Amino acid sequence: MNGRPEITDVKTITCVGAGTIGGGWAAYFLARGFTVRIWDPAPDAAERFTRLLEHAWPALAELDMVAGANQSDWSVHTDLAEALEGADFVQESAPEDLELKRDLLARIDAAAGPGVVVGSSTSGYGMTEMAVRTTHPERFVVGHPFNPPYLIPLVEVVGGEGTSTEVVDWAAEFYSAIGKSVIRMDREVPGFIANRLQEALWREALHMVDNGEATVEQIDRSIRDGPGLRWPFHGPMLTFHLAGGEGGMAHMLDHFGPSLKSPWTRLSAPELTRDLYDSVVAGCENASDGRSISDLMAERDAQIVALRTMMRSTAEDGKAT
Ligand SMILES: NC(=O)c1ccc[n+]([C@@H]2O[C@H](COP(=O)([O-])OP(=O)(O)OC[C@H]3O[C@@H](n4cnc5c(N)ncnc54)[C@H](O)[C@@H]3O)[C@@H](O)[C@H]2O)c1
Repeated sequence: MNGRPEITDVKTITCVGAGTIGGGWAAYFLARGFTVRIWDPAPDAAERFTRLLEHAWPALAELDMVAGANQSDWSVHTDLAEALEGADFVQESAPEDLELKRDLLARIDAAAGPGVVVGSSTSGYGMTEMAVRTTHPERFVVGHPFNPPYLIPLVEVVGGEGTSTEVVDWAAEFYSAIGKSVIRMDREVPGFIANRLQEALWREALHMVDNGEATVEQIDRSIRDGPGLRWPFHGPMLTFHLAGGEGGMAHMLDHFGPSLKSPWTRLSAPELTRDLYDSVVAGCENASDGRSISDLMAERDAQIVALRTMMRSTAEDGKAT
């Protein structure tokens, strides 16, 4: 007996850390009908989560909410052990700080019920390095979401050296059962898959700003009005397969591969100087064009809801024909 609940028996989830990501997870779990218990040391955690939930609930109602979901079925606790009482699953979303996560996971391990699986939202640490102070590393797994977790379906699931395969399977099945799109990785890769790709793009963007080759606004426009329009449907690989015409990816690699060797290899990480920092921050202010963060979030959510609704209906049409 490992004490692990059946996936269908999970009723209560504890969210440890309730900022942008933990709060977003909590909103999603509520919309899927779970009872949510929160632990976050910030004194204004409950107020912040209330604001986030009010913002997220209408979008959740359009896409992933189940019948009977209760917007009020959550509580914030000042004591970690109390927050973990009765939890059938734990999602950790504390700040991205390795020492902090090591301590926190050990504290969760000491207080959570035996066998309860703990998923970490970390953007890039491996579970092997995070679980070093736990007594039961076998129950710890990365469940890496994307902002906002209440709207973006992808979760990357990967265990550490001490994680049992059965727990990685359990977590992948659990996130799938609650409506997420899961990539189950069988080895640890820094940044997992999606962040590794995003970071490569971001590195190039910072280089171009640093060298005065492109503005922040031009970088966003280049993706938004260009390749970004194709990525929701085919992703970067099938996009290039089609860019090869009738010869597909093979023609693409024969044709462009040799000329791409230099851009693939010439750049290392840019130095994050004060000038670069200031240019990027000022560029984002400029590109926001008077819209507040809250305005931008509302705009983003409405557009993601519209896009996902359209993608669902075209996928259903495709199945029908
Ligand atoms: N922001 C993103 O786009 C994004 C995407 C995917 C994953 N993540 C990951 O999610 C995690 C949280 O990031 P975030 O963007 O929500 O950060 P955040 O700063 O918005 O939230 C962190 C929360 O943790 C709380 N906190 C501080 N110390 C804590 C502790 N010791 N224990 C528990 N909670 C504590 C803070 O009060 C805050 O509410 C990080 O591991 C990050 O890498 C972030």
